[in-house]
Amino acid sequence: MTEILLSAKNLSVRFGGVLAVNNVSFDVKQGEVFTLIGPNGAGKTTVFNLISRIYTPTMGEISYLGPKGMLKLTEQPPQNVASLGIARTFQNIELFEHASVLHNLLIGRHTHRETSLWQDLFFTRKARETELKAREKAEEVIEFLNLQHYRDSFVAGLPYGVRKVVEMARALCTEPRLLLLDEPSSGLNVEETDDMAFWIQDIKHELGITVLMVEHDMSLVSKVSDRVLAMNQGEMLAMGTPREVQTDPGVIEAYLGSIDDVSSLRRKVSGQPDHESVSVEGGQA
Ligand SMILES: Nc1ncnc2c1ncn2[C@@H]1O[C@H](COP(=O)(O)OP(=O)(O)O)[C@@H](O)[C@H]1O
Ligand SMILES: [Mg+2]
Repeated sequence: MTEILLSAKNLSVRFGGVLAVNNVSFDVKQGEVFTLIGPNGAGKTTVFNLISRIYTPTMGEISYLGPKGMLKLTEQPPQNVASLGIARTFQNIELFEHASVLHNLLIGRHTHRETSLWQDLFFTRKARETELKAREKAEEVIEFLNLQHYRDSFVAGLPYGVRKVVEMARALCTEPRLLLLDEPSSGLNVEETDDMAFWIQDIKHELGITVLMVEHDMSLVSKVSDRVLAMNQGEMLAMGTPREVQTDPGVIEAYLGSIDDVSSLRRKVSGQPDHESVSVEGGQA
């Protein structure tokens, strides 16, 4: 049986009068790509923020298989999350604009710091080794994601699509066990989205990293996801393979009821346009 890397049980989060996440449970298995979909405001980013420990759930808990065994993630201080092997990218890219790609990756790597401030100040052998290891890892990731051409460029001058890849590279430099990607295709054109699908597949197959992703583009979701959880207004709607979830009547209804998201989905209508004959298909409109 595949081991479970992360297990969310009965998660709820309330912000004032808004129940942003309402009794959500799911397991992420080691080595899979697990995707959260749902209209805007469904609670997807909030689930990410619970895992990153930016928020604490009002109810429920998250267990996580860390380097030293299973632990309650929801009891960990936020500063421990990175060293437990959880890395993330953000819905809106968060990089140091006025630093080079390489420097951004080295900064990302600093969560791995094994030396004290004094060791760094006096540049001890240990500090030198740590620095060398960080540089090796950064170069390895630059090569893996084909960023050689941009290695010394400032982030501020890079096209948006490249910045998305750089943000992913920075997360990979921490050598995560679990990579959280919040809308990896947002702001990307069709070609860049195709490239993103390849990177995610390579991360899964070649690096063996488990991916938990929030994504709107159903063609990307179908290509890379092993399992999908559809949410709406904080609640779980359906969970299963991409195909199972896309053809779930509750999921179709949630999307059809949301003007924001309908444009990102291609709907195939055969015969009468009732709910049974409408299926959400891959591809951007
Ligand atoms: N920090 C916050 N304070 C108050 N309300 C929030 C906060 N974060 C999210 N929400 C609300 O929670 C709901 C879910 O938001 P979010 O998780 O960002 O949705 P999604 O990522 O699926 O679009 C929304 O109604 C949003 O307005
Ligand atoms: Mg979001």
